[in-house]
Amino acid sequence: MSGQIPQRFIDDLLARVDVVEVVGERVKLKKAGRNHSGLCPFHQEKSPSFTVSADKQFYHCFGCGAHGNALRFLMEYDKLRFPEAVEQLAGRLGLEVPREGADDPRAQARERKRKEGVNLLELSASYFRERLKMPEGESARRYLAERGLSPEVQQTFGIGCAPAGWEGLKRHLGERGIAESVQIEYGLLVHHEDSGRTYDRFRDRVMFPIRDIRGRTIAFGGRVLGDAKPKYLNSPETPVFHKGRELYGLYEARQADSRLERVVIVEGYMDVVALAQFGIRNAVATLGTSTSEEHLSRLFRMVGEVVFCFDGDRAGRQAATRALETVLPQMIDGRQARFMFLPEGEDPDTLVRREGPAAFEDRITCASPLSEFLFDHAAEGRDLATIEARERFASQVLAAIGKLPEGVLKSLLLGELSRRTGVDQSRFEALVAPAEAPPGEPPLAPEPEWRPEDEWRPDDEGYEARPAPSKGRQSLGLMGRVLQLLVHEPRLVERLPEAADWYPEADPEARLCREVERLLRAGRYRSAQVLLAHFHGTPEGERLAALARRELLIPPGARAAELDGLVEHFQRHRLRSSRQEEVDALLSKQQRGERLSQEERQQLMTLLADPRG
Ligand code: CTP
Ligand code: MN
Repeated sequence: MSGQIPQRFIDDLLARVDVVEVVGERVKLKKAGRNHSGLCPFHQEKSPSFTVSADKQFYHCFGCGAHGNALRFLMEYDKLRFPEAVEQLAGRLGLEVPREGADDPRAQARERKRKEGVNLLELSASYFRERLKMPEGESARRYLAERGLSPEVQQTFGIGCAPAGWEGLKRHLGERGIAESVQIEYGLLVHHEDSGRTYDRFRDRVMFPIRDIRGRTIAFGGRVLGDAKPKYLNSPETPVFHKGRELYGLYEARQADSRLERVVIVEGYMDVVALAQFGIRNAVATLGTSTSEEHLSRLFRMVGEVVFCFDGDRAGRQAATRALETVLPQMIDGRQARFMFLPEGEDPDTLVRREGPAAFEDRITCASPLSEFLFDHAAEGRDLATIEARERFASQVLAAIGKLPEGVLKSLLLGELSRRTGVDQSRFEALVAPAEAPPGEPPLAPEPEWRPEDEWRPDDEGYEARPAPSKGRQSLGLMGRVLQLLVHEPRLVERLPEAADWYPEADPEARLCREVERLLRAGRYRSAQVLLAHFHGTPEGERLAALARRELLIPPGARAAELDGLVEHFQRHRLRSSRQEEVDALLSKQQRGERLSQEERQQLMTLLADPRG
């Protein structure tokens, strides 16, 4: 029965309900001019930056960027899926929600088919889970215990096991009236051509159900208990499973945090599960493939930031190169991609167990921003002192920049490239003239109009678009920039003046900066991770972590000069303010009718003549 809801009906519905009314029932609003305003329900705030417009029929928060119409509001606030939100609104008006093709036999057959598959996969998942509790699950239980997976995390991920026989699942499903042909179609049963026999695909393995974003099981991954090959066996492509699209752990990550802002892409099932067990619940894994465009576009609809996690070996670096290529075209403004490399011989599973979650979190925080990885990667193995190497370096970087959509990142990278090569930026700009964008289009594509159908289709998994990114994007402040430089490149601490008198007293961040300076000067290890570990769990730690996450778009070669410049600014400013104080003091003395001494008068003349010193 769940065909698509006709767009006409949705338009009509939106035309008839009043967003001010819908929001007003849930949020206290005050009329302010043409709009209404109130405290934003989507982020913590003390003064209202949330507005609802009756004319335009949408809400917008200037604080966190939450934005949308009445349907979107219901989805976000009441945590409804799109069709449920439509039902809600329609209910207010006493309308029945029509469905397209509700009487089209082909649509009905498709729908039946989908249900059949989902049902069969759910049945199988619970069969595997049950086996794990039975005597026949003994060896799998032992294996999971050896790998250190807690019962809680096994439950969260619905882990089970396939017993050793050939027909356990086949019989189980057969008894429940599921035809062998269907079991074959969904990859649970294998048909052996020569003998004509059929047998269970998964035998004697630990079973990981792969779930779609709504939590429906769509496939399985099975791991052998020993060293046999293949180590992992996945469901084949089926009507509901396309492995180039799905990410293991995404459903669980969203369950753990519905406001997910960042995901870490790791390689394996065990990595996702082990990280979750240690409280890092935003890891997802591709299923034995490299990260595809489709993976990324799905992720970026949900989160603003993606961190790729790679092994430190050559294969890892190759995978990172591929990931870079794939992510470039998707880097519209507001999205972030970062790259982290693990020490050789480790994967997230082994590392989080060895180092603990805080250290692993710090590694995530310190992952290289895309810009940095891009330049480092192009410079790798090249002696940039030679013209030829610089030329090849530039053309590699240009090729990458050419794949970026128009936006701030693209211009920043072009500027950076020009600084590094000493070639005028306009020359590079001509070389990467936008290929796709037709002339006359604004350089920064406006955010596409939100359409409900982007968020839900009957056959899709109910992804919800995320609110526009805006938090954390506020300007840094000059002391913030000093801190950011120190966090990204701790050895720069040596450039700071020995005497701390350049720190502005009034600046609240100066205290943190002084503390960071002290630690870095004292420390044997000048690394951001050590710094973050020191402040872990404090508001200062959060501030530093946020700064570490922000891309530092200053080329490594220019960072020292940038820091010097900032310190100089503060010194000048301090000098200026002390001069200003002196002037004020002298002037007020004069105004009070007190006589200035000859020296004082001289001093006042000098100060007033050249206030900058
Ligand atoms: N993989 C696969 N088929 C294989 C081997 C690996 O699909 N024959 C995929 C799986 O998704 C696996 C990931 O690649 O999780 C990483 O494989 P690998 O690094 O070999 O294993 P680990 O994840 O380290 O697995 P484990 O810790 O269980 O040995
Ligand atoms: Mn592993």
